[in-house]
Amino acid sequence: MEITTHSTEETKDLAKRLAQKAKPGDIYALYGDLGSGKTTFTSFFVAALGFKNRVQSPTFVIVRNYKRDTGEIKQVFHVDLYRLTSEAEVEDIGLDEMMSTADTITIIEWPEIYDKKLPEHTKKMYFEYADKGARKIKYV
Ligand SMILES: Nc1ncnc2c1ncn2[C@@H]1O[C@H](COP(=O)(O)OP(=O)(O)OP(=O)(O)O)[C@@H](O)[C@H]1O
Ligand SMILES: [Mg+2]
Repeated sequence: MEITTHSTEETKDLAKRLAQKAKPGDIYALYGDLGSGKTTFTSFFVAALGFKNRVQSPTFVIVRNYKRDTGEIKQVFHVDLYRLTSEAEVEDIGLDEMMSTADTITIIEWPEIYDKKLPEHTKKMYFEYADKGARKIKYV
């Protein structure tokens, strides 16, 4: 699928639609340049899943974790591999464990460095700058 969202509001609509289909165990790999909208999408997606937390970029902390007690999906790991430089570093932060935790969704920004080791069922999304307020988003 390919969609151009012409505002953050339209990116929110996409996030809501995809959140309705989300299942525990899902892994989302978000590709795209700086400012292409990966964190913005994630923030809307996590909200649409029903988490009340404010989602902030994990770029500097590498992993942010959102939890709740109710519902099928109890936890989200939001990971940013931008500052990591090897597969070994990704293993050290425990990404494999996060991705195989029950009742959990894992969302990964800048996944390129770990591309070869992402599970087969990873949902890949590609974000591109289209215009000041518009982003092209491709996904399966
Ligand atoms: N249609 C749109 N969809 C999503 N974001 C948009 C859109 N139009 C403009 N923006 C703006 O683009 C910026 C996207 O920033 P964001 O932090 O989400 O990017 P990112 O891909 O996570 O970057 P980084 O690689 O630095 O983590 C935000 O300021 C957002 O408001
Ligand atoms: Mg980001």
